[in-house]
Amino acid sequence: MAIQKVGVLGCGLMGAGIAQVSAQAGFPTVVREVSPNALEKGMGSIAKFLQGGVDKGKLAAADKEKTLANLSGTAELKDLADCDLIIEAVTENLGLKRELFGTLDGLCKPGTVFASNTSSLSITEMSTFTKRPERFIGLHFFNPVPLMKLVEVVKTVRTDAAVVADANAWCMAIGKTAVNCGDSTGFVVNRLLVPYMLDAVRVFEQGLASRDDIDNAMKLGCGYPMGPLLLTDYVGLDTTYYISEIFFDEFKEARFAAPPLLKRMVLAGLHGRKTGRGFYDWSQNPPA
Ligand code: 3HC
Repeated sequence: MAIQKVGVLGCGLMGAGIAQVSAQAGFPTVVREVSPNALEKGMGSIAKFLQGGVDKGKLAAADKEKTLANLSGTAELKDLADCDLIIEAVTENLGLKRELFGTLDGLCKPGTVFASNTSSLSITEMSTFTKRPERFIGLHFFNPVPLMKLVEVVKTVRTDAAVVADANAWCMAIGKTAVNCGDSTGFVVNRLLVPYMLDAVRVFEQGLASRDDIDNAMKLGCGYPMGPLLLTDYVGLDTTYYISEIFFDEFKEARFAAPPLLKRMVLAGLHGRKTGRGFYDWSQNPPA
């Protein structure tokens, strides 16, 4: 296994999940967050998830301790210098990603593979922020990372075949199934999923059916684990809106355009689970 030590940039929802699954699979994993508060919050969410696994009988208490022992947090990029793989999971801000990858390029050993968990920005563009585009790849995880089995492995026209093979082997080692694809906005999953979520908001906005009837229709009629409006809340209305803008900019197709209601709800701060309200009220359990 070419990849032994893993670095993760960002300890938010996705970064924390990625760090957890890496450490849980036995890889020493360093997570970098700028603010001590954000690091503490992310590490706390990992410990909570692992404890939940122990309480549900899904994880041995000793494995929880081993996972936590494999994890370390830092505010310093230089602490990631000897990692074999670094996965970026910071906010979708290209300027920030440019700065991080540019700095890490100067700090890391030549063999380090750089990966981004971006859901909609270009892996090819990010690879140009470094002098190692052949060692740059996309590794796109799904929320909630510890439960969702998929990783999209995204190669650019410059990525080395050996790096793709190492990334696939690592995904398998952390218990995920990898699908391989090229670098096109949204890769496979979001290319198909985002228009579906936007259409659900559109038909709700048009009054075709109630929120619960739309969600039940897709849940019970198609066997999806959650309906599209609950899923939009779960992913975040702000995130969905942001992704739709990038898609629309790339493809100029109406199906990627954000419905006015989505924009208004984002403006009103109804971002879904993360702000407590979206299409559902998340102060209730289950959301009502
Ligand atoms: N530790 C270990 N296992 C746990 C656990 C924990 N802390 N918490 C839950 N589990 C296990 C449960 O025991 C259960 O296992 P089982 O199937 O063997 O019984 C399984 O995980 C599911 O857990 P729950 O029963 O608590 O929850 P649900 O059955 O309600 O499933 C869900 C929750 C997995 C979130 C499911 O609703 C789902 O799959 N939803 C769709 C999520 C989705 O589509 N995500 C992708 C979003 S798009 C994205 O991320 C891309 C981005 O770029 C936008």
